[in-house]
Amino acid sequence: MTAASAAAAAYIVAGLLFVLSLAGLSRHETAKTGNAYGIAGMAIALAATIGLAARSLEAAAVGLIVVAMAAGGAIGLWRARRVEMTGMPELIAVLHSFVGLAAVLVGWNGYLSVERAGAAQTEVPAGLLGIHSAEVVIGVFIGAVTFTGSIVAFLKLSARIKSSPLMLPGRNWLNVGVLVAFAALTVAFVLSPNLGVLAVVTVLALALGWHLVASIGGGDMPVVVSMLNSYSGWAAAASGFLLDNDLLIITGALVGSSGAYLSWIMCRAMNRSFLSVIAGGFGTEGSTAAGTADGEHTEISPEEAADLLRTARSVVITPGYGMAVAHAQYPVAELTRQLTDKGVQVRFGIHPVAGRLPGHMNVLLAEAKVPYDVVLEMDEINDDFAGTDVVLVIGANDTVNPAALEDPGSPIAGMPVLQVWEAEHVVVFKRSMNTGYAGVQNPLFFRDNTRMLFGDARERVEDIIKAL
Ligand code: TAP
Repeated sequence: MTAASAAAAAYIVAGLLFVLSLAGLSRHETAKTGNAYGIAGMAIALAATIGLAARSLEAAAVGLIVVAMAAGGAIGLWRARRVEMTGMPELIAVLHSFVGLAAVLVGWNGYLSVERAGAAQTEVPAGLLGIHSAEVVIGVFIGAVTFTGSIVAFLKLSARIKSSPLMLPGRNWLNVGVLVAFAALTVAFVLSPNLGVLAVVTVLALALGWHLVASIGGGDMPVVVSMLNSYSGWAAAASGFLLDNDLLIITGALVGSSGAYLSWIMCRAMNRSFLSVIAGGFGTEGSTAAGTADGEHTEISPEEAADLLRTARSVVITPGYGMAVAHAQYPVAELTRQLTDKGVQVRFGIHPVAGRLPGHMNVLLAEAKVPYDVVLEMDEINDDFAGTDVVLVIGANDTVNPAALEDPGSPIAGMPVLQVWEAEHVVVFKRSMNTGYAGVQNPLFFRDNTRMLFGDARERVEDIIKAL
């Protein structure tokens, strides 16, 4: 068997492991196994690629690859071990930006080593040079959009810049204009590859990526995260074509299409069309309804909340981002166990965009060993609130906001939400009357059947456990 066919066989095995990994990651029960498949696939892919490259490279070059990999691996391990669950979306955004940057560098390298060097110097047959040039310019474009888009997403998610949308006049036309210019420049580059055109495409794509994400409002960030995930996949696939690496094409296509599917699921969960997300503006800070909900709120003490729970027959817990911040999943799991032991029916209602990551709440609850069968999706639980005695809203805000359904002028109008207010009693755990991620005030806090339990969610849940 030649080295090339051994590598091709290894790539097929790695590709299959990536497919198994995605299948595993789609269910809580199999998520860990899915991760293990992914790690195994990546280890095989790296070993095969370096093994193949080592045959045609000098020892010094192989040494450099090993040093770069060791340094990158060490930094990755160090960051991943330190990152809080709440910092995960930012980390993912930064990682997407690396994929984008890598695709830009691969594209530029492709141009410098083929078109610039002259066809005679390369292995690309003259008849295929046009295809190579198209791969260069498309790879650089997707990579550059992913690079700056991910950096802006990182800055917004980590609150280093405001999450409100940038509203440039005629912004949609700016985006369309850049796309049209890109199409024209691609044709120009394929007909006559030159450095100037590639530089202009790079600058335009960097600006487009920046503008696309900057003009998206806070409420749409979940879709942006999965959209950039998809772009990073397509950027990797484009690099795969340029580097003639089948596995990179397969992996890129898997990431690109699963990210696109996730974006579609997110859009559906928020009742938004993909195009309206790109057009931006959702979750605009300071818009009409952002501060209109006002009134008297009523507080409750942990002891009174414990009394409510003691007499309840059915309880639903709707967690949100605040549960992640407070690390309240552990006392919440303990409270669930105690109530279940007393014969109370306890279930969880999970909004598809609760927290800051797809599946954020599910991961936290699984970590705290809450049984999967009591963790229900929004659609599965929404009809049951009317028959529920007590709802505990643990650090959720936008995802339980009745304004989304009742106030057409609200910035989050139309987003499906958990209809917690239909229950007999609602207890909201948060630290203040502050708004949630979308910057929209929540009329739920002023309803007659709502009680506010102020303070850190973890401490307050522990107080309730003590009182019980
Ligand atoms: P949010 O609307 O973000 O509200 C979280 C609430 O938690 C805040 O109102 C905050 O109020 C409270 N909180 C924070 N720390 C707390 C603590 N230690 N103890 C108790 N409460 C605490 O949460 P949500 O309902 O989960 O909605 C998610 C939002 O994020 C949506 O707008 C969604 O579009 C957006 N988003 C989601 C994703 C994904 S993929 N899930 C990604 C990006 C953005 P206080 O400050 O008063 O405590």
